[in-house]
Amino acid sequence: MTPIAGMDEAASRAELAALAAELAHHDHLYHTLDAPEITDAAYDALRRRYNDLGAAFPALVAPESQAVGAAPASGFAKIRHGVPMLSLDNAFAPEDFTEFCARIRRFLGLTDAPLAIVAEPKIDGLSISLTYEGGVFVRGATRGDGTEGEDVTANLRTLKSLPLSLPGNAPAKIEIRGEVFMSKADFLAMNAAQEAAGDKTFANPRNAAAGSLRQLDAGITATRPLSLFAYAMGEASAPVADTHWAYLDQLRAWGFTVNPLSRLLASEAEAAAFQAEIGLARAGLAYDIDGVVYKLDDLALQRRLGFVGRAPRWAIAWKFPAEQATTVLEGIDIQLGRTGALTPVARLTPVNVGGVLVRNATLHNADEIARKDIRIGDTVTIQRAGDVIPQVVGVIAARRPEGAVPYAFPTVCPVCGSAAVRAPGEVVMRCSGGLSCPAQVEERLIHFVSRGAFDIEGLGEKTIREFHAEKLIESPADIFARLPPLRDVIAAREGWGALSADNLMAAIAQRRTIPLARFIFALGIRRIGEANAKLLARHYGSYENWRRQMEAAAMVGSEARSDLGSILGIGPAIAEELAEFFAEPRNLATLDALAGELTIQDTESASGGELTGKIVVFTGTLETLTRPEAKAMAEKLGARVTDSVSKKTDLVVVGTDAGSKARKAAELGVRTMTEAEWRALVNAAESS
Ligand code: IVH
Repeated sequence: MTPIAGMDEAASRAELAALAAELAHHDHLYHTLDAPEITDAAYDALRRRYNDLGAAFPALVAPESQAVGAAPASGFAKIRHGVPMLSLDNAFAPEDFTEFCARIRRFLGLTDAPLAIVAEPKIDGLSISLTYEGGVFVRGATRGDGTEGEDVTANLRTLKSLPLSLPGNAPAKIEIRGEVFMSKADFLAMNAAQEAAGDKTFANPRNAAAGSLRQLDAGITATRPLSLFAYAMGEASAPVADTHWAYLDQLRAWGFTVNPLSRLLASEAEAAAFQAEIGLARAGLAYDIDGVVYKLDDLALQRRLGFVGRAPRWAIAWKFPAEQATTVLEGIDIQLGRTGALTPVARLTPVNVGGVLVRNATLHNADEIARKDIRIGDTVTIQRAGDVIPQVVGVIAARRPEGAVPYAFPTVCPVCGSAAVRAPGEVVMRCSGGLSCPAQVEERLIHFVSRGAFDIEGLGEKTIREFHAEKLIESPADIFARLPPLRDVIAAREGWGALSADNLMAAIAQRRTIPLARFIFALGIRRIGEANAKLLARHYGSYENWRRQMEAAAMVGSEARSDLGSILGIGPAIAEELAEFFAEPRNLATLDALAGELTIQDTESASGGELTGKIVVFTGTLETLTRPEAKAMAEKLGARVTDSVSKKTDLVVVGTDAGSKARKAAELGVRTMTEAEWRALVNAAESS
């Protein structure tokens, strides 16, 4: 192998092309035919050489080489994050921040020693993960759905602020996380240039950064003014620091840019002043920020705190107040959701709100429109906060045009004409057409193939709408039953061709096997988001069991219903939705049809260890753990924690001064253990 340092452009170009072809060949053997010809190590060596050469000659990385290893439909290979990329809980007021600190203290059992906290401006860009092996940048990925992102290695290499190698003291393998963004001035200049050239412009700096990074041609990314701030860690083969502040120092020493406004606060009492200071500086900053991220400085405490849902307990994003503007309400459109909700959407004279052009805003529901007496033609105040949908706050009464009449909310579904009804105690009007309303069916199909659900490459919202309108797909199972025989018809469609059609067929085939949690989420049952789908999958384990139990739970007062209600996080409203879903024969037919096409994988808990699915009770005083911490430990290992001891209890952890629960455990013959034994069990489960 020629050392890269001695290679010229022509030789590199030839080798990169050869490597890309070779990688594509092996990708096809591996991903599509399931018949690899070379070992993973040999493949990795090829890929490494390709990446290294690409690093030395970023301009040579051809557009199609992005597709190396990719499901080519999206153009980017998928990368699974070693540690999930999560989001942050938000604070909007000082009380929220105080509660965040109080929760940390409760969880850790701390009293009044000050909490050292690092404060960092929250950049409004897109988060990325950067992996270095042997000190060399080898892989970069977008956040994606948090579990799996897109391989944008070649694009990231073109960023001037990205160190391609780290000095000698870096761990053998380390993943660093940060935010890619575009400055406000660069955004405006780029949009002006795009407009002059007749190209599409971007709505805001965040979209511009995302669009520029996710270019199939890394050569285009290279021309875009993207910057990077590093702020977090992912996987590392060796620890880097004991505190987050020291970690940021290390990042700087390795050549990363850390936001210079970041500050170590000696105690949580300093946060409010910092928030105010950055709030004042905000408008004058070169880039958009939407708040400040506060992170507990001590990394050992961060580890103990861990995560809940999709966010860490040790960090919070304290957002700035929403930005507002006024404009004219030109009309009100009614949009239909997958559960039939009629949502009024304001059509506005476009207006710039804090750097973003807003054309539509939500009006929430009929009550809100009536309460605020919003009329078409009114001048309205709108606001947006971060990523949330802009909303209409109110009307400027003095500017109401003459003759404006109160808005009459439709009483029938604008799509299917069924009556729009309102359940007692609810604010939302719903189309009563159910699965006979084409709009609801379409929205459900779109949900079915969305990211956390079936996520079928090449079958996005636009395609679903087309296929549904032409009756190629009428229900979810049609994707699997009807589309494959239509391969040639699809290939002949405008904008498709044989390659795209084959890719779609491969993507559909790949999704015939699906984890139970994704399957449940994909059904689009009201109130069953990704988190609840996971809870259900973990509790019931298999599709067959879940279905049997849900049908039984339709009866109020049944054992299945009370079991459903006992799942932590599943309240009566959710149980009711599930029962309702299973009471509808058309839904059962959909399930039957899908089950006939799919292999639905059983769920094992994350650890699959000894505690999976076990019911644990803590009693008495624990010496080294607070209750919330003990509970979180148990749940992390797949156990459920309840308050009272019964025949169903699997384990009782007995602290000092334990009373009746310990006695009851002894009477019922339930296994008990001491706090020390519990810790040993957890340690063993975590390291296995
Ligand atoms: S830390 C587990 N620090 O905010 C914690 N995030 O709402 C991971 N962001 O996806 C995030 N500036 O895109 C962190 N200084 C900062 C940040 C930051 C911006 C973004 C990031 C993340 C989102 C979470």
